[in-house]
Amino acid sequence: MNAPSPVPRLFGEEFAARPDVAYQQLRQSGPVATAEIAQGVYALVVTSHRAAVALLNDTAVFSKDSRNWTALNQGWIPQDSPVLALMAYRPSLLYADGAQHARLRQAMDDCLARIDVHELRETTHRHASRLIARIAPTGHAELMRDFADTLPLLVFVDILGCPAQLVSRMVTACQGVIGADAGAMQAAADFAACLAELIAAKKEMPGRDVTSWMLAHPSQLTDEEVLHQLFCFVGAGTIPTAAWIASTLRLIQDDDSYATRLTAGAVTVRGAMDHTLWTCSPMANFSAHYARWETLLHGVPIPAGVPVLISHAATGTDPALPDLGPDNRAHLAWSAGPHRCPADNQAGVIAQTAIEALLDQLWDLELTDPTVPNRPGPFHQCPAALPARFHPAPADALTSTAPTGGTG
Ligand code: HEM
Repeated sequence: MNAPSPVPRLFGEEFAARPDVAYQQLRQSGPVATAEIAQGVYALVVTSHRAAVALLNDTAVFSKDSRNWTALNQGWIPQDSPVLALMAYRPSLLYADGAQHARLRQAMDDCLARIDVHELRETTHRHASRLIARIAPTGHAELMRDFADTLPLLVFVDILGCPAQLVSRMVTACQGVIGADAGAMQAAADFAACLAELIAAKKEMPGRDVTSWMLAHPSQLTDEEVLHQLFCFVGAGTIPTAAWIASTLRLIQDDDSYATRLTAGAVTVRGAMDHTLWTCSPMANFSAHYARWETLLHGVPIPAGVPVLISHAATGTDPALPDLGPDNRAHLAWSAGPHRCPADNQAGVIAQTAIEALLDQLWDLELTDPTVPNRPGPFHQCPAALPARFHPAPADALTSTAPTGGTG
C-alpha cells in the first residue's frame, strides 16, 4: 500500500489528546479509510458500525492471519515498530482462521468456563484491598501505576497458577510488554521465558489453574501452542481490563451528576462500565483482518494483504447509529463474529470488583487532573495517568469486607 497524502494519525500526542478529531476525519473519507497507525505503518480503519459487523462476520473473505500482510512480508515495516508486538503472527487463536481457530478457541472457552466467578471476585477483592492499603495512608496516588495497571496482572498470575518464585519476574515482564516502548521486545521475550517455566512446572505438578487445564485439554495443544495461547490470554486481557477500570473511574469522577446519581443509587457501577464501552472503548482500534483477495466493503475497495482494523472506539460513537437506549449492549467493544472476546464476563467481574473496592475504601476519592490525555498508542484507549487524592486512612482501618457485587 502506497503512503497516501496526509491521513489521520492514530498515534502520538495529538491523537492521545483528541482521538475524536481523528475519527471524525476518517469518517469524512467513508466507512473505511486509511490511517497511519505508527511511524510509516498504514492500515485501513473501519469507523462505521454496520460495515464493521459485515467485515467481522465475513470469514470467507477476511483472514486474521497476519502472515498475509504484504508490507510486512516485503520488509517495508520497521522491525522495531511498536505495532508488531500485537500485529506480528503468533500461533495462537488470535491469528488463526477456520478449523484451527475453532480448535484453539474451544480450549480457551473451556478453560475460561472453569474459572469460578466467586473465587475470581474474592481474588480480585483481596488484591485490590492490598493495593489500596498501600496508598491509603498517603492521601494521594497515581491510580494507573498504583492500582489499575497492577491489579489485573496480580489476578492473572493467580488464575494461571504462577509459582511464588515466578510472580515478580512475570509481573515485571508483563509491565514491560504493556509499556509498548523500546524495551517491549525484550520484555515480550522475558514474558515468554516465564510462561515456558510455568508450563514446565505445571506439567510436573498440575493444579486448579488455567495453565494446567489448557495443558490437559482434549484439543491436545502442543507446549508451544499453550505458550502462545497464554501469551494471548494475558496480553489480550490485562491491558484492556486496566483501561476499562480507569476510563470508568474517569467517567464517574468527571461528571458530577454521575457521581451524585451513583451515590443516590440511581445508577450503578456496572451501568457506568457499560456506558464506557460505548463512549470510550478500552480497545480503541484492533481486530486486524486481511482480505484474501481484492474486495469491496460497503462500496470501498479493499486490496488484498492490507491490514483492516476495526475502530471499536469510533464504531461506538458512529453518528449513523440510532439511539439504542442506555442498557443496549450492541457496541463492538468486545468485537463480534468468531473472534469476539471470550472473556467479557470474567473481565466484568474483575473491573467491577476493582472499582467498587476503590470507591468503598477510599470513599472521598477525587481525581485531581481529569484532563490527562490518553496513552499515545493506536490500540488501547486509556488515560496515561490518574492522579487522585483522598482522606488519608491508616491501612488497618480500611474495611476488609468480602465483595458483594454481582456481574449483571
Ligand atoms: C479477563 C480479561 C480478558 C481476557 C482473558 C481476554 C481474552 C481475549 C482473547 C483470548 C481474545 C482472542 C479471541 C479470539 O481470537 O478468538 C480476545 C479478543 C478480544 N478482546 Fe478480550 N480479553 C479480556 C478482556 C477484554 C476487555 C476488557 C476488552 C474490551 C472491552 C476486550 C476486547 C477484546 C476484543 C476487541 C477482542 C477481539 C480481538 C481481535 O479480533 O483481534 N477484552 N480477548
